[in-house]
Amino acid sequence: AQKEVSIKIDTESKGPVISKHIYGHFAEHLGRCIYDGFYVGDKETKIPNTDGVRNDIVAALKELQIPNLRWPGGCFADTYHWKDGIGPKEERPTIVNRWWGDVTEDNSFGTHEFLNMCELLGTAPYLSGNVGSGTVQEFADWMQYVNNDGVSPMSDLRRENGREDAWNVKYWGVGNEAWGCGGNMTADYYANVYRQYATYMGGWTSNEGIQKIASGASSGDYDWTETLMKKIPARLIDGIALHHYSVIDWDNKGSASEFSEEQYFITMQRAYEMEELVTKHIEVMDKYDPEGKIDLVVDEWGGWYDVEEGTNPGFLFQQNTMRDAMIAGMTLNIFNNHANRVKMANLAQAVNVLQAVILTDEEKMILTPTYHVMRMYTVHHDATLMPLEINNTSYVKGDAELPAISASASEDLDGKKHLSIVNIDASQSYKIRVPFSGVKKSQISGEVLASGKIQDHNTFEIPSHVAPEEFKDFKVKEGNVELTLPPASVVVLEIQ
Ligand code: AHR
Repeated sequence: AQKEVSIKIDTESKGPVISKHIYGHFAEHLGRCIYDGFYVGDKETKIPNTDGVRNDIVAALKELQIPNLRWPGGCFADTYHWKDGIGPKEERPTIVNRWWGDVTEDNSFGTHEFLNMCELLGTAPYLSGNVGSGTVQEFADWMQYVNNDGVSPMSDLRRENGREDAWNVKYWGVGNEAWGCGGNMTADYYANVYRQYATYMGGWTSNEGIQKIASGASSGDYDWTETLMKKIPARLIDGIALHHYSVIDWDNKGSASEFSEEQYFITMQRAYEMEELVTKHIEVMDKYDPEGKIDLVVDEWGGWYDVEEGTNPGFLFQQNTMRDAMIAGMTLNIFNNHANRVKMANLAQAVNVLQAVILTDEEKMILTPTYHVMRMYTVHHDATLMPLEINNTSYVKGDAELPAISASASEDLDGKKHLSIVNIDASQSYKIRVPFSGVKKSQISGEVLASGKIQDHNTFEIPSHVAPEEFKDFKVKEGNVELTLPPASVVVLEIQ
């Protein structure tokens, strides 16, 4: 018999607002994310663009209402010297991208190009500054260059380079993965370095309201979070980052699109770890900041597999299947349910790298299953969380099991309620019962993302193989909404 799961939504108690910034993205100088991705540059091309930025990518990301975009890294950020990326392009020095494929870049995509692109996208920039190989002065100068509206050496230089108004960048990362590619620092050492950088990030009017985000832990390194919380005075910090990737095994990641159900199950285990990770990092933060003033910022997350055959191993180009849709749906539900502390997150990465929402091949562009989940979940942006309880069932593989169903619910400003439900079970459909008093069938609508196989994906030849459809498999019976979730599916319901 088909197993049943019930989801009880607490419509009475008001949860926190789910910050739209949980739905943020990440664009590093890595492989084909910026160059030959977002940016086609000034050269002659048949790809329609605005100041070198692809119009099709801008339109697709606007549809996702991306709230913020992190740049220029990642590991690249701690090698990046922003002054090399301003001024006349022909005079800009080159940079060798030492972390990602050793390619030589011409610095044609720099601060102006990125911040203007953010204006085009209608998104908030999130800049990660160079701490690993930069200086405090270089960082402070960058802030003055982009944020100071008055007269100052850096704002004057910005004007000379053609930009009158400051961009008022709010989100600033102080280095990236300081425990690794950002300088191989200890937590103690980084805490001191952070204090020094943060001192010169504030203190002048145009920087009021900026958010200073410390480079955070890798997955379960709770000591890192604890040390930072203990050693950095609250007045100097607004957020602590966390990075977690769903990787089967760093030495044997497996193909992105040809995988067994066993491999799929391990990926789901890794993705589900996010629940424990955010819970425990939040516990540590609560100890030092019971009022919840400092945010948890999961500024890198997603699935990581072997690169596609024949592509540069340093470019991290991978396909994106229904497995990735499951990671996205489940992870975003986890973030929503922890919206009291998780205020921002960034999927790695937006275009052509890791769990991308967009893949390009010359003038062609496809939207991945992850894109569709992100689009379906836009209803949760800045909506009020409604806590829920799931009377769950297990997805079992061998001796291991995982909760088959994940869900989150919210109410938007117009009073519409949304419930996102994910069934990660690769072969079982489940009947879900949601008590909802007084609701009529005509008040409910929904969308479903499902496909025949967990390996299904979109290609440049068949770009809409995986796409959301209207969800019809529900009824209302005795005060319950009853729905059937197909195997490996994401459903978002709207209740008017
Ligand atoms: O997203 C790819 C890389 O993963 C980033 O550059 C780094 O921060 C992380 O290790």
